[in-house]
Amino acid sequence: MNTTARGAVIHAVGAKWEVEDLALAEPGPGEVRIKVMASGLCHSDDHLVTGDIPNALPLVGGHEGAGIIDAVGPGVTRLAVGDHVATAYLPACGTCAWCAQGMQYICDTGAGMEAGFMLDGTARFSSGTSGRPIGAMQRLGTFANYLVTSQAQAVKIDDDIPFDVACLVSCGVATGWGSAVNGAGVRPRDTVMVIGVGGVGINAVQGARHAGAAHVVAVDPVAYKRERALELGAIHAYATIEDAMPFVHSVTNGQGADNAVVTVGVVDGRLIADAFSAIRKEGTVAVVSIGQNQPGIPISPLELVVYAKHLRGVLFGNCNPTRDIPALLDYYKSGRLKLDELVTRRYTLDQVNDAYSDMHAGLNLRGVLIHEH
Ligand SMILES: NC(=O)c1ccc[n+]([C@@H]2O[C@H](COP(=O)([O-])OP(=O)(O)OC[C@H]3O[C@@H](n4cnc5c(N)ncnc54)[C@H](O)[C@@H]3O)[C@@H](O)[C@H]2O)c1
Ligand SMILES: [Zn+2]
Ligand SMILES: [Zn+2]
Repeated sequence: MNTTARGAVIHAVGAKWEVEDLALAEPGPGEVRIKVMASGLCHSDDHLVTGDIPNALPLVGGHEGAGIIDAVGPGVTRLAVGDHVATAYLPACGTCAWCAQGMQYICDTGAGMEAGFMLDGTARFSSGTSGRPIGAMQRLGTFANYLVTSQAQAVKIDDDIPFDVACLVSCGVATGWGSAVNGAGVRPRDTVMVIGVGGVGINAVQGARHAGAAHVVAVDPVAYKRERALELGAIHAYATIEDAMPFVHSVTNGQGADNAVVTVGVVDGRLIADAFSAIRKEGTVAVVSIGQNQPGIPISPLELVVYAKHLRGVLFGNCNPTRDIPALLDYYKSGRLKLDELVTRRYTLDQVNDAYSDMHAGLNLRGVLIHEH
């Protein structure tokens, strides 16, 4: 028996989000249905629109969700009806070799996500009019007010956490915080550059401070983002890497930053190379941003070797959803992680295209979609 949902669907690269009535299949074995209360509007969903992330379409967008379990399929052991949850855009099966080593962010069951369908190759959403199957961003689709996903992609959270901040921890907060703490390996007294302080980067700023950095240097061309970065933990903020370098050199004996985290909206090889040149010997550049799926980072092999530098990609902040989502929410409750301050504006589902226009205009630190039922 199907239920109904209402959600924002992307049909083609370059198209607008279409808000549609959807049919939603009952949860199958190991699956749960979530009544989605709030969804973040991450830049990654916009990559579906621009084509920077090649996904099969049509697709219900959204992967940063928080809500309530309202049905469970056979064999569900992790969650029960009534549980409050945050979605995990990468699954944590718990038993593959990677999960077993505490690397849930590269869980084997995440393979094939770009098809938009569940692991068994079928969709849970279908068009309310034509009946055509419709995929889901990261097997979630939090731009719909109800969704069905695997129990491996929902993490129980405390009932007293507001949904509009819990949803942000599903991706942007954990990704940003972890990119500094786990990805770049920030240590006490470090000088850290966070390049791009939007929804993800602002949490890299918070993570770097948490890890004890002495100087968190924010880089963003948008003045509003620089102001917010200074409020939330950056010591200095500049419009470009080049502008930041005199200060960075002044506090590092001319050597360069200890670490850099790249969290711009759309990355290219040139920017990664510039970040690489900005760090010191044995320093690390952690790249979080998505860009076109094309080769080419113009880094000098000599610079790489003789300065013993590190360059790495970071997925979900190299966090473990089942451990880190609740842990970050505990930090929030104890005042050590700012989440309420991240939300610039709340939107209805029908305003989803306005929300992305605002993101492109640099108006929002975070936009959040509040669902109706
Ligand atoms: N690796 C992961 O697990 C992961 C997870 C979530 C998001 N992402 C990616 O991270 C990136 C950031 O996402 P977001 O939601 O924070 O986007 P956002 O649009 O909210 O923020 C991007 C920021 O980068 C700034 N920027 C643009 N060009 C810049 C430049 N040349 N130098 C410095 N700053 C610049 C923008 O002004 C903006 O403030 C996206 O590419 C997104 O897809 C990756
Ligand atoms: Zn796994
Ligand atoms: Zn995201």
